[in-house]
Amino acid sequence: MQLRTVSELLSQDITLPEVEVKGWVRTFRANRFIALNDGSTLNNIQCVVDFENTSESILKRITTGAALHIKGELVESQGKGQNVEINVTSIEVLGDSDPETFPIQPKKHSFEFLRENAHLRTRTNTFSAVMRLRSSLSFAIHKYFNENGFYYMHAPILTGSDAEGAGEMFRVTNLDAKNPPLNDEGEVDYKEDFFGKETNLTVSGQLEAETYAMSLGKVYTFGPTFRAENSNTSRHLAEFWMIEPEVAFMDLAGNMDLAEDFMKSVISYVLENNREDLEFLDKRLFDEEKTKPQAERSDMTLIEKLKFVTENNFKRVSYTEAIDILRNSKPNKKKKFKYIINEWGADLQSEHERFLVEKHFKCPVILFDYPANIKAFYMRLNEDGKTVRAMDILFPGIGEIVGGAQREERLDILKEKMKALNIDEEELWWYLDLRKYGTAVHSGFGLGFERLVMFATGMSNIRDVIPFPRTPQNAEF
Ligand code: 4AD
Ligand code: MG
Repeated sequence: MQLRTVSELLSQDITLPEVEVKGWVRTFRANRFIALNDGSTLNNIQCVVDFENTSESILKRITTGAALHIKGELVESQGKGQNVEINVTSIEVLGDSDPETFPIQPKKHSFEFLRENAHLRTRTNTFSAVMRLRSSLSFAIHKYFNENGFYYMHAPILTGSDAEGAGEMFRVTNLDAKNPPLNDEGEVDYKEDFFGKETNLTVSGQLEAETYAMSLGKVYTFGPTFRAENSNTSRHLAEFWMIEPEVAFMDLAGNMDLAEDFMKSVISYVLENNREDLEFLDKRLFDEEKTKPQAERSDMTLIEKLKFVTENNFKRVSYTEAIDILRNSKPNKKKKFKYIINEWGADLQSEHERFLVEKHFKCPVILFDYPANIKAFYMRLNEDGKTVRAMDILFPGIGEIVGGAQREERLDILKEKMKALNIDEEELWWYLDLRKYGTAVHSGFGLGFERLVMFATGMSNIRDVIPFPRTPQNAEF
């Protein structure tokens, strides 16, 4: 007998005399019907127990959460809801589960409760569907770049540089916290630290990826990034995964084309390959929306939203145009925004991004040419001397999902910029070398992976799309 997954068994349209499956009990009804799930699919296989010929002691151990090894005959189902089911001939309890204390009961649990039980939450339909989609999206990303001539580059996780210049880094040290070595000025002497200098967890692999773009041409990173920003929002994590393509000889227009094609491609992939999970999440979101007041409900279902992105062009709008739209918008005039937009130069908040996408343009938007002083040091300065070749992609329900730019490739201008921002040239000597030896136009962007998973699954809290979320005051598991 060959062990099969629930997914394989459910796709059979013939009866099979002898099958074998292992999984966890979701429910056990009437001492007769086991709903068994093994994670291979959203669906359970119904296993019909011959209770007259099964010992009382085994029947008692078939409880929600228990792990079973079942053998039997795969037959056409007598009941509704499934095509096939197993007539059980033998049951082995591989692992018992105490029904009194097992946290995942066969009923609706709040997402807050499930976050506290993140080690068991993938035993539920919603979280198993979300995590299967997360896996698929990740595959689709590698597939896209592989098919388009990109090399996968592993950027370092331990680094001395702050790519974004925002100072939101986690320090990595093995100095004795109680008794660190001090220098002559009485400050901690990082020369004596493990790496002989201050070291942090990376906030972005971009600067290192640029070095590879300027030799291998088209590269991308896909790895964990860390930010010690104390923003307890539904869209921020302290540890998140980022995809960062970087391409030599590509300008900002090319960067926008790449980002749009890439986003459409990975979303199309899951529309084609994760239908079952998407339909489940679509219904989940629909039920959740029904509990909201009419005015706050989305007028599209999850699958409609995904199709909408794949089938429509992203609207490309300059920052300056966006500010005009926002300044003249109803919520701005009626002071409904928390941050009122008065002047050119203002940083956009998520409420403004979402207004542009959800109320004004009603489609994904690429904003470009931002004021230089609200963006990172490495972005290419425009001829006007005050804007840079930056681009952010804004998605409905999410706000900023991608941030990118054409990079400053002119050594003198980059040096001036770094000086103005107090960025140490000696720290980034290698980054400046790229501008000394064969510099060229190049561009790239960063996609926040969890924000993409949120969009594709319709989950509204970023903590529910990563296995074990790290947020301020929380690093359980
Ligand atoms: O806009 P960001 O900060 O851009 C960069 O890091 C560039 N180095 C990218 C590049 O050009 N190669 O971050 C990129 C994206 C954001 O658009 C957002 O989707 C996500 O990363 N992101 C976060 N996601 C979750 N939690 C956080 N704290 C995030 N910060 C940024
Ligand atoms: Mg950004």
